[in-house]
Order: sequence, then C-alpha cells, then structure tokens
Amino acid sequence: MNKIRVIGGRPLTGKVRISGAKNAALVVIAASVLARGESIIENVPHIRDVEILLDILRGLGAEANWLTDDTVSIRVPDNINHRTPYEKAKLLRASNLLLGSMAGRKGVADISLPGGCNIGSRPMDLHLKGLQLLGFETRLEHGFIKARAGTLHGRDIYLDFPSVGATENIMMAASVVPGQTIIENAAKEPEVVDLANFLNAMGARIRGTGTDVIKIEGVPELKGIRHAVIPDRIEVGTFMTAAAITRGQVVLENVIPTHVQPIIAKLRESGAKVREKGDCIEVIGASRIIAVDLKTMPYPGFPTDMQSQFMALLSLAEGTSVIVENVFENRFQVADELKRMGAKIKVEGHTAVVKGVPRLYGTCVKASDLRAGAALVLAALAAEGETEISQIHHIFRGYENLVEKFTSIGADLQLI
Ligand code: UD1
Repeated sequence: MNKIRVIGGRPLTGKVRISGAKNAALVVIAASVLARGESIIENVPHIRDVEILLDILRGLGAEANWLTDDTVSIRVPDNINHRTPYEKAKLLRASNLLLGSMAGRKGVADISLPGGCNIGSRPMDLHLKGLQLLGFETRLEHGFIKARAGTLHGRDIYLDFPSVGATENIMMAASVVPGQTIIENAAKEPEVVDLANFLNAMGARIRGTGTDVIKIEGVPELKGIRHAVIPDRIEVGTFMTAAAITRGQVVLENVIPTHVQPIIAKLRESGAKVREKGDCIEVIGASRIIAVDLKTMPYPGFPTDMQSQFMALLSLAEGTSVIVENVFENRFQVADELKRMGAKIKVEGHTAVVKGVPRLYGTCVKASDLRAGAALVLAALAAEGETEISQIHHIFRGYENLVEKFTSIGADLQLI
C-alpha cells in the first residue's frame, strides 16, 4: 500500500461521521503521563500518529491498550523511563508534548528532538522558556532536550507567539508545580481547551483556556479519569472542502460547529452553501467557485492546517485568490504538485497567488506532508481523469479511514 489512485469528476454525496481530533488525542494521551491510576480516553482516532505515541509510551514502560475501536486505556507507573527514543520520536512532532507531562510527573525528561511534518523549522524556544521560568533547568544535548527540576514555582509566562505546543507543555507541567502560573498570549485552539478539561477532571486547577490568559494553580498530584476527545475540526474542514470542490452535497456528523466557523466563512465566500444543524453540518457545493483571499492565523483565525486544502479549491475558482501563510514558513510545497495537475499558482515568500483555471487534470503527484496530501486527494477528486498520489504515509498520520470515508460518499479512490 503506497499510493492512492483517484478517478476524478464525481460529485460527492452522503454522510460522513467525523473522528476524534488528532491534535487533541495526541496531547491528551501525552497528558495521561501525569495521572496516577488508569486514564480511559474515548473518541481516539486510529491514525499513525496516535499509534506511534502509544508505542513510545509502551516503550517507556506504560501500559497502553485499545479497549474498543476508539477507546484507549493508559496506565503510567512511577518508575516510567523518562527518555524518549530517537527512532520513534523522529516520526512524530507531537512526541515533544511528553516534555511537559514527563517533567511534571518525574521532575526529569529527556525528549529526543521531534520529527513530524516538513513545514518549517518549528523551534521549541517558547516551550523551553516556559519550563525554565517554572524552575526547570533545560539544555540541548546530543539531539535531546533535557529538563531537570530545580526549585519549582508558578510564574507569569508571556509567549511571544501563541504556540499551541508551548501552551500545552507549560499547562501540563504547571498543573503540578506549586503556586500560580499565568500564561499570557496563550494559544486559544479548541485542542488546548480539551486538554484543560482533561487535566481539570484529573484534579488540576486551570482557568481561562479559550482566552489568551490561562491561570493554573498547581496541585500535588493528578488521578486517572475517563475523557472523550473533541471531534477533529480539520477533518471536518477537509470533507467540507471536498463537497465544495466536487460540487457535491455532504452532511458531516459529530461536529462542533463553533470550532469550524473560520472555515465555514471562507467556504461561503467561495460560493458554497453551508447549513448548521445541531452537531451536523451540510455543505452544498456551488457550480461556480468564487476566488477568495485568506490569511492563516492562530485560532480563531483561519487554520494553517486547512490552507493546502483551500489552495486546491481555489485552483478551480473563477478569478484570482491571494493566500498568506502566517504560521509556518514552508507550507506552500503542495503548490508545485497542484501545478502538475494544471493549477496556476505563484508563490513568493509567505504569499501564494492562485489564478483559477476551469479544470485540473489527473497525473502522478506526491504528498509532501499531511495536509498537502489531503489537498492532493481533494484536487484529484475534482480533476479530469486518473491521479496517483504517492508518499501517502503522510496522509495516514492524520486521517482515520480516509479511503473508506470518501468511498462511502461516492468517490472513486483506492489504495494500490
Ligand atoms: C500544532 C498542531 C499543528 C498546527 C499548529 C498550528 C499539534 C500536534 N499540532 O503544532 O497541526 O498546524 O499547532 O495551529 O497540535 N514556534 C516558535 N517557537 C516555539 C514554538 C513554536 O517559534 O517554541 C513557532 C513555530 O515555528 C510556528 C508557530 O510558532 O511558526 C506555530 O507553532 P505551534 O503553534 O507551536 O505549532 P505546533 O504546536 O507545533
């Protein structure tokens, strides 16, 4: 299984149930390291990134088992090893989320510098600054970030950028550091709120998530609990865009509509009809796609994780769209692959100018990262003829049952 073959040109119709959020599941699994006793986590997607993180935990000495298709049980003993192995960590950027939880639980963490999507340099200076302010000594040695507890106390921590990972790592460590920590200019993403709900149910005292000031009162210890992960807003966005690009009609179930408002707003601007009904969203694609300008921003701005999929959509718009990428410096790699399919895109620094064309054509393309892979699937579904997408391991890092879900709404795609 190393390619996806897509025959394009079919409007997608039907219903798709959205899985649990990759980025919430990963951080909640990492946070379970802080718990004494068993954590049971529901609505966890079966995706490669989750499997790798569970494998890392098992390798360190935790018990991590699937109880059902989407429920995981995790028990982390006191004597868990604190050193994540390079061989696994290099596969997964989110392995860096073990820094805060391991440092909080054990007072010591050696985290191999993480891998993950090739979409920019993705430094960890803000994570380290936060831990240092809490009283951890940190240093970089032989490819590992090493954290050692000194005299720990809550502090005011200002983030120069509202980094999702830094906010999460600091929240996890500060939950069990004595005194009050205040994170200013914190990330407001729904996954940060989900993490706080998980930690608070474990006994933590965190207020203000969802705003840019988060207050944490440290508690001595946290206990294992049961928690259900929020739905994946990027999977929602990807299927909504699939409906729009194929001029189809798709209903998405198990959605929190407030989490996808920036995506809905841009889809409507592009001509699609979007209806919200409780925890469902229906998208009806328009026959004419209208050019739209967009800028990626931290939440509640337009998500960088949806930028590539929109580039595919806007490649088929009437008129010229301008996309500005403000979060990651190297996230336009999909443009070259879309150009192979007939798109007209000019990239200059952080800006891409997309001149819409009447049609895209199937050809051989390769996924350079997770969301670029999703964008190529969307482009292929709308293109004339057959497309073969290679390097699809990137796609399976983050989408559960992608082939089955698209096939169930009328797409002609298969693994080869
Ligand atoms: C998380 C998501 C990812 C999403 C991203 C932005 C997970 C597992 N991944 O990644 O899908 O695309 O948020 O919404 O949740 N930065 C620094 N210094 C730091 C940390 C970050 O300069 O110490 C910069 C990064 O280089 C990047 C920007 O901040 O330019 C955003 O990164 P961040 O919010 O930290 O993203 P991740 O947590 O890595």
